Amino acid sequence: MAQKKGRVFSGARPTGRQHLGNYLGAIKNYVALQDDYDCVYCIVDLHALTTLDTTLEIRENTYEMALDWLAAGIRPEETIMFIQSHVPQVTELHLLLSMVTPLGKLTDLPTFKEKARMQPHNINYGLVGYPVLMAADILLYKADIVPVGIDQASHVEFTREIARSFNYRYKTDTLKEPQVKHTEIPKVIGTDGQNKMSKSLDNHIELALTPQETVQRVMTMVTDPQRKTRQDPGNPDVCNVFSMHKIFSSPQEVEMVNIECRRAGIGCVDCKKLFAKNLNTSLEPFRSRRNELAKNPQDIWDILHDGARRASQIAKVTLQEARQAIGLPD
Ligand code: TRP
Repeated sequence: MAQKKGRVFSGARPTGRQHLGNYLGAIKNYVALQDDYDCVYCIVDLHALTTLDTTLEIRENTYEMALDWLAAGIRPEETIMFIQSHVPQVTELHLLLSMVTPLGKLTDLPTFKEKARMQPHNINYGLVGYPVLMAADILLYKADIVPVGIDQASHVEFTREIARSFNYRYKTDTLKEPQVKHTEIPKVIGTDGQNKMSKSLDNHIELALTPQETVQRVMTMVTDPQRKTRQDPGNPDVCNVFSMHKIFSSPQEVEMVNIECRRAGIGCVDCKKLFAKNLNTSLEPFRSRRNELAKNPQDIWDILHDGARRASQIAKVTLQEARQAIGLPD
């Protein structure tokens, strides 16, 4: 195998079955990066605890997400795919990093303020330390590259600062400053035509739906709000269905929709049907692979445990180096 260019690390919270936004914004990129990098992909169950009111679904959501990642093309023979809490060294590094993290920096972060606003009833200590735990993830595995969406870019910058502070304070070069890599399509709009696609807003299209369910879901998509009737010409430039055509339809179809929508030659219903058809075609291999994998749930858990075993080999080395740099007794 050709020499890889370095190590990629990324994490995602266990949100269960993945949707188009997850796929286009993250998973697709995770899959592609495997060709050039050693990849470590983590299901961050500990991070999830900072915002969950109930943990009843965490196990199921972890399983469903892992299944989707595998069906989408994550290759567990090469890539390390694991559950964050299975490698507890991350919590120790988190504590060590917290000693070089100014509290004011954490409470000033826009992501913290946003979360505090969203859950004023539950501004917990873990929420404040969220970026420190994320830094611990990245630094523990000495990642060169961290692929994230725009919203998480400030956390990677923050990770670089913590790495520098740690290295400076303890006169070491143990922690490696990672580079951020923006995912290609940072924002996928949901079926409401307005907000970022997300499960919590119920404006998402799950990858694992049946073809019929997919059609139903696509039919609820909001199109150009100015186009009130079939006879009105539409404006593809402001239509989310058209954005999706650009990803899932052939260049000829995109051109056809672009022209016909503007002169009311095609209505929104037919336009959506065409998109749903193309989406179903492109998800076909994913779905059949998913059905195959789902026949043996234990295999998924085995893959995750094997990932944790490989991840902890890296984690133990970094943690030992960090302890030594600080001067903690052996
Ligand atoms: N904070 C990220 C999110 O909310 C998830 C995450 C945790 C992560 N650890 C990470 C992403 C390390 C990249 C690298 O989406």
